[in-house]
Amino acid sequence: MTTGKGLKLVERDADGVDLAFRADVLAGLAEPQKAVPARWFYDDAGSRLFEDITRLPEYYLTRAETEILRGRAEEIAGLIGPGRAVVEFGSGSSVKTPLLLSAIAPSAYVPLDIAGDFLRAAAAELAGKFAGLPVYPVEADFMRRVELPAEVEGLPKLGFFPGSTIGNMIARTATDLLRSMRETLGEGALLLIGMDLVKDEGTLIAAYDDAAGVTARFNLNLLHRINRELAGDIPVDAFAHEARWNDPFARIEMHLVAQQDVSFTVSGQRFAMTAGETIHTENSHKFTKRSGQMLLAAGGWEPRARWTDSESRFALVLAEAKPPRSAP
Ligand code: AVJ
Repeated sequence: MTTGKGLKLVERDADGVDLAFRADVLAGLAEPQKAVPARWFYDDAGSRLFEDITRLPEYYLTRAETEILRGRAEEIAGLIGPGRAVVEFGSGSSVKTPLLLSAIAPSAYVPLDIAGDFLRAAAAELAGKFAGLPVYPVEADFMRRVELPAEVEGLPKLGFFPGSTIGNMIARTATDLLRSMRETLGEGALLLIGMDLVKDEGTLIAAYDDAAGVTARFNLNLLHRINRELAGDIPVDAFAHEARWNDPFARIEMHLVAQQDVSFTVSGQRFAMTAGETIHTENSHKFTKRSGQMLLAAGGWEPRARWTDSESRFALVLAEAKPPRSAP
C-alpha cells in the first residue's frame, strides 16, 4: 500500500482552534433561530457515535444502501469500468467503501474528510484490506473545491458520496457542492451518490430518534465539542434532543431544545436562550426520484442509472458530469 502525505487543509489559530468551526458557531448562535451546520458533528467522538447510529435497528439508511451495493455490484461495476481513482467525499469506516472498491478494480482511493485522525485510521484500515491499492487520504473541507494529490492527476475519477449526506444541505448548498465536485473530479467524471427517499413520517422520526438514545448523544455531543474546543460553558444537561419532520421542505430536522432558560459563553461571547428555544443542528432532506434528478441536474450531473433497495427506502444514483449548455 501507499499512503499519501495526508495533506492538511484545516486552518487553526495558535491555540489549535479550528477557525471555520468557531466562525460557524458564533454566527449560528447569533441568529434568531440558532443553528450550527451539521458537519461539525464529526469530531472523533461524533464520528464514532455516527458509526453506532448506522448499526441501530431504526436507522435503515446504511443497511438499505449496503443492500444495493451488494446486490447490484456487478451491474454498477459494468457501468463504471476499471481503473478509476475513487474520491470519497467524507470517508467512513463503513463496509460500503470496501464493497465498492472490490467490485470495480480502481486505480487509487482518495478519502476526503475533515475529521483528521478518524480519516487516517479509516484510510490505514482500508489500505490494509486492499494490498496494492494506493490510498491518498486528504484532510479537507470538501464543501470547497479540493486540490487532489498529484498522484491521481491523470486518472479518470469516480466520486463516491454515499449515505445521503447530500441531504444535509439545503438545495442551494447542495447545488454548490455538486458543482464543486465536478470541478474537483474533472472531465469525464462519474459520481455514485446515495439519496434517502421520502417515506412515512413514523419510520423517518424513529430513524432520527432511536429508542437507545444514540442519536440524542450524537446531537448533544456537538455541545460538548463546543465547550471543549471553543472555551464554552454550555449546560449540556439543560438541552434535549428532538427530531421533527418538516413536510414543506421534505426533511428531518434535528434540534437541541433548551429545557429551561439558559445563558452561556462561547469563545468569550455571551448567549441566552429561553425555555423551549432550540439550536437547529441538522437537516436531512429526503428525495423522490424527480427531486433527486432535479438536484443532480442543477449541479451539472446527469443520472445514468438508479437503483433502490428491496423496500424502496433508499436510492443509489450513478451520474455523469455534463458540460454546461444553454440550449434546451
Ligand atoms: C450521515 C448525514 C447521512 O442525515 O441520516 C444520522 C447523519 N444524523 N442520524 C443522516 C445523521 C442523525 C446522516 N448522514
